[in-house]
Amino acid sequence: MSGEAILVTGGAGFVGSHAVRELVDRGFRVVVADDLSLGHRAAVHPQATLAVLDLGDRAALARLFEAHGFFAVMHFASKSLVGESMAYPFRYLRDNVVNALNLVELCVEKGVKRFVLSSTANLFGEPDVMPIDEAARIEPGSPYGESKHLIERILLWADRIHDVRSACLRYFNAAGAHPDGSLGEDHQPETHLIPLVLDAAAGRRSHIEIFGSDYPTPDGTCIRDYIHVCDLAVAHALVLDLLGERSCRFNLGNGTGYSVREVIDAATRVTGKAIPVREGARRPGDPPALVAGSALIRKELGWSPRFADLETIVRHAWAWRQSHPQGYGDRATVA
Ligand code: UFG
Repeated sequence: MSGEAILVTGGAGFVGSHAVRELVDRGFRVVVADDLSLGHRAAVHPQATLAVLDLGDRAALARLFEAHGFFAVMHFASKSLVGESMAYPFRYLRDNVVNALNLVELCVEKGVKRFVLSSTANLFGEPDVMPIDEAARIEPGSPYGESKHLIERILLWADRIHDVRSACLRYFNAAGAHPDGSLGEDHQPETHLIPLVLDAAAGRRSHIEIFGSDYPTPDGTCIRDYIHVCDLAVAHALVLDLLGERSCRFNLGNGTGYSVREVIDAATRVTGKAIPVREGARRPGDPPALVAGSALIRKELGWSPRFADLETIVRHAWAWRQSHPQGYGDRATVA
């Protein structure tokens, strides 16, 4: 399979750039399609080809398919903030769904039979059974989660009618950074818990605000399953073989939940710094707890996380944050 060309949309973003690294290391030829609105040119692997384009531009996308003859498509490019999607629901639904539809239609037209979707735990809304496995009821918790659900449905019909096999990988909370320090998380503005906590530890922020301390959880703060971005990347590479046989969907997390306070405690231990905390209001759309049941992907792909431990995840993120205080340095830092 080595040497085959793979299109990675959003390959300049956080999870996408780590997946590109994994694919290049495994000998694939990678073409990144990214409009660089959220991603970073410097995050694109030097051996990958970068096409700066908007996935809404179907003609440009069609030319890319024609030029490279892709073996598979991995679709990361997306708006992906739960809270933002509650403020701009239709922007999320339209952009995420239309862009994915363009890609899926081109896969059908150009005979690309393998499609990997970056999907989300937000598909499951506020489930009452934990951990959340693939049999859990789908009830998206936000327009963002709904947009991914609609894309999963589009892929179902692409499979049934056109034999495009797809893998829907429902990530829980992607975190960490590449252990060699070359890649990491750089969102502008940053909204994710771990980088914000680390910025508070480094003194770049005055404090970390806890969004809600009255949830029905042991310490009152939200529980999430943090998964190392390199472990996510490996899952994308492993699933390509299975797509030669059939479509699949997997929930991807470590199976252990940590509260916001536990994350702050882990960051205090890793950094050795005091982290000022303030308790604030709940953030709209945030479910109290999301913990993955990942038995299926472990069994069917032999996947298992290399960096399951929360302190390791935070340590890698801290190393990146310290070596790249301005992130990739291509945008003004927004506090
Ligand atoms: N949080 C705070 N303070 C902050 C930032 C976050 O208390 O300043 C809390 C949130 O309320 C939440 C937890 O920390 O309980 C994690 O929040 P993140 O913003 O880091 O991540 P989310 O859980 O909101 O969402 C992430 C991705 C989504 C994905 C989801 C799946 O951004 O794309 O994980 O679980 F859908």
